Amino acid sequence: MGFLEGKVAAITGAGSGMGKACARIFAREGAMVLVSDISGAQEQTAADIGAQAVATRCDISDEAQVSAMIDLAVSKFGRLDAMLNVGGIGSGALLESLEAADFDKMLNINLKGMFFGAKHAVRAMKETGGGTITNWSSLAGLIPSVGSGAYNIAKAGVAMMTRQFAVEAGKYNIRSNAVCPGMILTEGMGRAGYEAQPKRATVNPLGRPGAAEDAAELAAFLASDRAAYINGVLIPLDGGWGCMLA
Ligand SMILES: NC(=O)c1ccc[n+]([C@@H]2O[C@H](COP(=O)([O-])OP(=O)(O)OC[C@H]3O[C@@H](n4cnc5c(N)ncnc54)[C@H](O)[C@@H]3O)[C@@H](O)[C@H]2O)c1
Repeated sequence: MGFLEGKVAAITGAGSGMGKACARIFAREGAMVLVSDISGAQEQTAADIGAQAVATRCDISDEAQVSAMIDLAVSKFGRLDAMLNVGGIGSGALLESLEAADFDKMLNINLKGMFFGAKHAVRAMKETGGGTITNWSSLAGLIPSVGSGAYNIAKAGVAMMTRQFAVEAGKYNIRSNAVCPGMILTEGMGRAGYEAQPKRATVNPLGRPGAAEDAAELAAFLASDRAAYINGVLIPLDGGWGCMLA
């Protein structure tokens, strides 16, 4: 028996990288998974998993689509136990030259998108006695870095939002935590970051980048009953990189 047997998870950004790895590992541990993405690649993620997965297209910056995704998880599987807000985009502009429209886009996807996921997950989880929300912040949401200011601000917002949901939704037996990756070699954003600055992948104490599965294993633990008393934490997943920057 897997340690997520009987649980239902909804995962955004599940067509690539860490979201896709989460879908695979949650299914391995027995969960039913609703896999969503804006790209269309969620269909392949679901096909690779088989009967435990259902795919749907969802643009997380559109609240109506996020609400419908949560409702689909409940109608297909009867409940929602775990919400994984993984999907997002990167950016590389200095704040001094950032256009307002680009800032809006970043906040709409990377911050409001996760807010919509958490908000509608709470609505569903209240009906069935609780659940867990796991948000993808970033080491960059905890420590500033030059050139990705809008992204960092959005991820810092995700960190506070995570703690805010922890204190507001704890009374419903809903736990809210965040994963804060350093450099994870995913096929999407991680690969782009690596190609732009390869040395950053090895400056951490372990001397290597992380894998999508590293994040997925952590997320599976956080969503499980083994983590029943963990609420409101921001967990760096960075090989110890943050220790060298703080
Ligand atoms: N890879 C890293 O090194 C790293 C480091 C820190 C934080 N993160 C965060 O981890 C999360 C996953 O990163 P990854 O490297 O797996 O990314 P990825 O690029 O491989 O996958 C991200 C997915 O999000 C989807 N997406 C983008 N905009 C969307 C929208 N509007 N609605 C729905 N889906 C949308 C994309 O289609 C893509 O499939 C992101 O939130 C990212 O900011 C990544």
